[in-house]
Formats: sequence, structure tokens, C-alpha cells
Amino acid sequence: MKILITGGAGFIGSHVVRLFVTKYPQYTIHNIDKLTYAGNLANLTDIENHSNYKFVKGDIVDAGFISKLFEEEKYNAVIHLAAESHVDRSITNPLEFVLTNVIGTVNLLNASKKLFADNHGFERFYHVSTDEVYGALGETGMFTETTAYDPHSPYSASKASSDHFVRAYHDTYGLPAVISNCSNNYGPNHFPEKLIPLCINNIKNKQPLPIYGKGENVRDWLYVIDHARAIDVIFHTAQSGSTYNIGGHNEWTNIDVIRLLCRVMDKKLGRAEGESEQLITFVKDRAGHDLRYAIDATKLKNDLGWVPSVTFEEGLDKTVDWYLQNEEWLNNVTSGNYKQYYDSQYHKR
Ligand code: NAD
Ligand code: DAU
Repeated sequence: MKILITGGAGFIGSHVVRLFVTKYPQYTIHNIDKLTYAGNLANLTDIENHSNYKFVKGDIVDAGFISKLFEEEKYNAVIHLAAESHVDRSITNPLEFVLTNVIGTVNLLNASKKLFADNHGFERFYHVSTDEVYGALGETGMFTETTAYDPHSPYSASKASSDHFVRAYHDTYGLPAVISNCSNNYGPNHFPEKLIPLCINNIKNKQPLPIYGKGENVRDWLYVIDHARAIDVIFHTAQSGSTYNIGGHNEWTNIDVIRLLCRVMDKKLGRAEGESEQLITFVKDRAGHDLRYAIDATKLKNDLGWVPSVTFEEGLDKTVDWYLQNEEWLNNVTSGNYKQYYDSQYHKR
């Protein structure tokens, strides 16, 4: 089986590439990535020389490039993760999200549809999506696979649109597609524009920890390696046309996550208890900030037997260790353009 993984140099994609390359030596894995600010080949140095792995630098928005690549390589499956993924950036520049997340997905669907129609052994189009397409919850309830779509940010609107296209290609052309919608991931290789790695970096450097609004928004956190494990199970066993929610029943308010992180890091850095909490700073809220996300992953557990392998405390501990042991990675991704992004995002708040 020859599989194209898109966005494999990013946070989640790099964990999916590693899992597939090492667990399935009989598969050929190609990783296409544009290497935007979020793509980083340093995430994959441990597997880059494996004989069943190849990196292809390319832009999924380039329809001609994508159709030629599929014609030449005759992939049997696609696992699609490439996306613009940060909500705050989507508020500043929505068009980039339409291009990559919507047009890029349709380009991949068209190329896959052609291989499928020509009987080239195309078996699976796996679209990796998010719980944000379901909108925001109040204090109770959970998102299930039948919750109506109600996206609020340009990011979630673009992901919702791409999900609709994937379903349309299944229903109209019979493309063997599956979709999963996952909650917030955290773990090694997470780019420090997102809450947890941003705060790890700032705690380490004794910088303010910017909490939007009152820190009361709730997210449902899942360790990235558990997301990759779920993708593996769904890829291999889900019925075409199906959707699975992925999440770890692990809801936290943002302020509680950051307080826990401060306690973990104070211990590891040999600081006095409560020292890093002093860095917490409440800043202007995100526009259209969704109050609460919570995933009901019962279908995934009952149908396919997947459950998370680590608790939040264990996963956060491993995550902090990874960042403290990978200073060079962190320094490299927080130099250059990151500083400009940080200034424009936070110094106006
Ligand atoms: P990320 O931003 O870390 O990585 C995205 C990758 O896509 C990068 O390597 C980037 O270079 C690449 N890319 C961007 N535009 C591209 C283009 N036009 N052509 C080719 N490559 C391009 O994102 P992530 O957090 O790893 O998310 C991966 C996927 O999982 C996304 O589709 C996202 O919507 C989804 N998701 C993320 C989370 C989360 O908590 N991070 C949760 C649920 C779902
Ligand atoms: O739910 C899945 C989604 O999770 C994915 O689809 C997205 O790709 C991913 O980025 C993530 O989106 P969020 O917006 O939830 O993640 P983020 O880390 O940006 O923010 C988490 C929460 O923390 C959110 O309520 C906003 C808040 N926040 C975020 C940042 C960056 C802060 O309070 N301060 C910050 O500086």
C-alpha cells in the first residue's frame, strides 16, 4: 500500500508519519508538506532515512502539481492533515484558510477521485478534522457524530466546508472516504503559538502567560500520540462514509490547565511553589471565542475499541519533559518570524 500523508511535517502529522513508517514497514509512506511556518522537518529526523519513507515538498493548493503527483505515484490512500490550523491567525487572515483548507482539500479529492474511477486500487481518503466544526457548547452536553455543524471562526468554517466536500465526494462519486473530528491535542512538537506550548516556553523564560478573557473557556485535551493511535485504527477498520469523534473525556478550563502546568514546571525547574503562577496575565479575549468543547467518543470506543493510553497528568508531564529536553527545537521555532507574530498578536492586547 502506498499512502500519501499530507501535512506530515506539522504537529499531529509528524506523529502520524512516525507511527505509520515504523509500525508498517510494508507500506510506502510519502509525506507532502509545503513547510509553512508550522511545518518543520526537524520533527521527523529520527525516521527520515527509513527506506519506506519519502518527503515531497509541495503545496496542496497547486492543483496541477497535485494531479501530476497522483498520476505518477498512483497512491492507494490519503491521510489528509495539511491545514492552516491556528484560530487566531484565521481571524487575521481568513483567505489563507480558505485556500489551504478548502481548495487544497478539493484538489486532493479530485486527484483521488480520478485514481478511484480509473480502478488504480484507491482504497481510502481519510480526512482529519476538528471538533470546532460543531460550534460551542454551553455548560452541559457533548458533541456526537450527529451534532449539527455550527462553526464560528474562519478556521472552523473552513474545516467545516472541507468536511462537507469530503462527504459530498463520498455520496456523489462513491469515493471511499472517512472523517474524524478530534478535540484539542497537546504533546511534543506542538508549535508554540497554541496555548500549552506557548505557556511552556513563557514559563521557562519567566515571561507573562496571556490568558484570554477570564480563562473560563473549556477545552477537551488529548495527548497527540493517542490521536495518532486513533487515526491508525480508524484508517484500517472504519466503514467508508463513516465519521468518528476522537477525544479523551478530559475537560479543563484554560486557567486550570495553566495553573497545573505552572505547578508541574515549578517542580521540574526547581522553582518555589506558586512562583510561575505569578506570570498569569489576563488579556483581551479572542473574537468569537467558543465557550466550551467536549467530545463524546463512545462510538469510537464501542465500534473500534480505542481508548486513550495516558491520563492528562501523565501526558502533560511527558510533554514538559520533551520541551525541556529539546531546547534547540524550541529556540529554532521561536526565533525570526515567531517574534513578529508574537508582537502583533500579544502586544496590542
Ligand atoms: P499544524 O499547523 O501543526 O501543521 C499543519 C501542517 O500542514 C504543517 O506542516 C504545514 O506546513 C502544512 N501545510 C499547511 N498548508 C499547506 C499547504 N498548502 N500544502 C501543504 N502543506 C501545508 O497543524 P496540526 O495541529 O498538526 O493539525 C493537523 C490537522 O489536524 C489539521 O487538519 C487540523 O485541522 C486537525 N486538528 C488539529 C487539532 C489540534 O489540536 N492541533 C485537533 C483536531 C484536528
Ligand atoms: O479543538 C480542536 C482545535 O484545537 C484544533 O482544531 C485547532 O487546530 C487547534 O489550534 C485548537 O484550537 P484552540 O483555539 O482551542 O487552541 P488554542 O491553543 O489556540 O487555544 C486553546 C484555548 O486557550 C482557547 O480557549 C483560547 C485560549 N488561549 C489561547 C492562546 C493561544 C489563551 O487563553 N491564550 C493564548 O495565548
